[in-house]
Amino acid sequence: MKRVGLVGWRGMVGSVLMERMRAENDFALIDPVFFTTSNVGGAAPDVGKGASSLQDAKSIAALAAMDVIISCQGGDYTNAIYPQLRAAGWDGYWIDAASALRMEADAVIVLDPVNRGVIDAALARGVRNYIGGNCTNSILLMGVGGLFKAGLVEWVSSMTYQAASGAGAQNMRELLAQMGALHASVAELLADPASAILDIDRKVAATMRDEAFPAQHFGAPLAGSLIPWIDKQLDNGQSKEEWKGQAEVNKILGTESTIPVDGLCVRIGAMRCHSLALTLKLNRDLPLADIEALIREGNPWVKYVANERPLSMQELTPAAVTGKLDIAVGRVRKLNMGPQYLSAFVCGDQLLWGAAEPLRRMLRILLE
Ligand code: HSE
Repeated sequence: MKRVGLVGWRGMVGSVLMERMRAENDFALIDPVFFTTSNVGGAAPDVGKGASSLQDAKSIAALAAMDVIISCQGGDYTNAIYPQLRAAGWDGYWIDAASALRMEADAVIVLDPVNRGVIDAALARGVRNYIGGNCTNSILLMGVGGLFKAGLVEWVSSMTYQAASGAGAQNMRELLAQMGALHASVAELLADPASAILDIDRKVAATMRDEAFPAQHFGAPLAGSLIPWIDKQLDNGQSKEEWKGQAEVNKILGTESTIPVDGLCVRIGAMRCHSLALTLKLNRDLPLADIEALIREGNPWVKYVANERPLSMQELTPAAVTGKLDIAVGRVRKLNMGPQYLSAFVCGDQLLWGAAEPLRRMLRILLE
């Protein structure tokens, strides 16, 4: 049995990974070793393998005893530990949720329902680093990967509606605190059916602009508002999140000539589902029925939602998709710009396909 070290299993992505590994019985197939940065010697979680104690996540010797390491500990940890491990001669498989190594030449971005061929080719040539993609890009490709696979996409503009969870656990809490603060500020007026809506609105606006409004993590109000910037500012006017679109989508697919991917990334007040409003330019005019079939055939998790109002309102939303592996794809129609211009709306749980699921599936591939 392969010895698999797990680092960062207690954080948000790590906890989702643990849930999924338990649900899929992954632990039965491995010899798991749990690492910690703060509680060395403490009790490791019970995954049906008997009692064990937590190992030191900063001990290169302890890590080097693993065949595979899965890290959800974050980029700082990867940058600090990974080079030391390789320098010590470790040649195991490094599977990582963090972006630190993602664009390195000796790393593959894993999303096997979309790029199993790229992963298999990398395994065959001895690549040892398998890194989860940016959540937005993974959800984009899980949604409309079928169109890319058919070689139909000339370019895609991706306008995103990204959930609080993408910014971290503290941000999810802050979003709810903001919602609560807004409600509390007008609770009395709301309870009075005779109160004026513009009085309520004025109070809400004043509350979200107040210095005391809880916005330490987002740096701006999100509840009742939105934030049209995610991650760092680059010199070319893109945000880093926007830059990742083209870079990662093409790397995941292993394209020979770059498919342009660009658009604006926006934080909205959803909890953990990212959504994307896509404009795709196809390189030929195909009937909608053929396009639908290609999207549906992309992978078994695509949940195609017919372009109808009630279905879109019920099934194509963060509320419907949250906590599920489904990737909802809908609002597919030809745009006024011409028969090769297609719209689509994609919604997926950014902690599942956007983070944890590709990692555990990569582990399974190593066990095949
Ligand atoms: N960077 C993403 C976000 C999440 O802020 O939503 C991680 O892929």
